[in-house]
Amino acid sequence: MLLRVTGVTKRFGANTAVQNVTFDVAKPVMIGIIGRSGAGKSTFLRMMNRLTDATEGEIRFEDRDILRLRGGDKRAWQSQCAMIFQQFNLVPRMDVVSNVLHGTLNRRSTLATLFNLFPQDDIHRAIDILDRLGIAEQAPKRAEALSGGQQQRVAIARALMQDPRIILADEPIASLDPMNAQVVMDALRRIHEEDGRLVVANLHTLDTARRYCDRVIGMRDGRVVFDGTPEQLTTGVARDIYGADAGFSEAATSTAIEALDRVPA
Ligand SMILES: Nc1ncnc2c1ncn2[C@@H]1O[C@H](COP(=O)(O)OP(=O)(O)OP(=O)(O)O)[C@@H](O)[C@H]1O
Ligand SMILES: [Mg+2]
Repeated sequence: MLLRVTGVTKRFGANTAVQNVTFDVAKPVMIGIIGRSGAGKSTFLRMMNRLTDATEGEIRFEDRDILRLRGGDKRAWQSQCAMIFQQFNLVPRMDVVSNVLHGTLNRRSTLATLFNLFPQDDIHRAIDILDRLGIAEQAPKRAEALSGGQQQRVAIARALMQDPRIILADEPIASLDPMNAQVVMDALRRIHEEDGRLVVANLHTLDTARRYCDRVIGMRDGRVVFDGTPEQLTTGVARDIYGADAGFSEAATSTAIEALDRVPA
C-alpha cells in the first residue's frame, strides 16, 4: 500500500475538526477532497505534511509512520510532500527563478542561503521546470508582476524543485479566474500523469473535482462521507456532502449541484 490513513483525528479544544479519517491509496492517483467550509479539508492536509500534529490516528506512506517522524526525518518528509496554497506564498519582490530555487532551501547551507548563492545545476533545473510549466520567459521578473495563474505555476515549480512524491494542494485555484484555473489544474494533472506523483487537492467546486480527479473524497463535519470515483458522485451524494439540510444556503447548494449537473456523468 502506498498510503494508508487510519483513524486520523484532530481536536481543537472541544471542537473536533477532523474525525476518524480513514482511507487507503494503492498507487499514485489524483485525489480531490471536497466539502463545505469548515469540513476539515485544510486541517487534514496540514496533518499530512506535519504542519500540525494529529490528536489521534496513523498515516503510513510506504509503511513509514509519518505522524511520528521527528527532527531531520520530519523535515525530509515535508520536502517529499510538497504543499501548494491558495495564496501562492511567493516572495513578491523576489524574481521568479529565486522563488523557485527556494524549493531547495532545506538542502543548502545557511551561508549560501544568506548570500542567495544557488548552484548552477539548480538554476538550470529551475529553468527547465519553469519551461515545462510554460513560464520560462517569466524567470527574471518579480513574482508580483505575474498573473495569478502564472504565480501559482511558479509555486508548483518551487514544489517540484523538491522532487516530491506527493503534492498537496489546498484550494490551488480558489483565487483564480476560470482560464487560469484550468491552466493550473492541467499542470497538476500532467505532473501526476507524467511523473507518477500522488496529488491530493482540496477543491471548492464539484465540477473541478469531477473533471480532473480519479477519486473524490467528500468531507462533512470532519468526517469522510463519500469516497469514490467521479461517476459515483451523484447529485444526491453531493447534496449529502454539502449538507443541503445543514444550514448551507439554498443558493450555494444549488450552485454546487448545478455545477455537478453540467458535467456529463
Ligand atoms: N488553528 C485552529 N485552531 C482552532 N480551530 C481550528 C484551527 N484550524 C482550524 N480550526 C477549526 O477546524 C475546523 C476545520 O477547519 P478547516 O480549515 O480544516 O476547514 P476547511 O474544510 O479547510 O474549510 P475551508 O473550505 O473554509 O477552507 C473548523 O471548525 C475550524 O474553525
Ligand atoms: Mg481550507
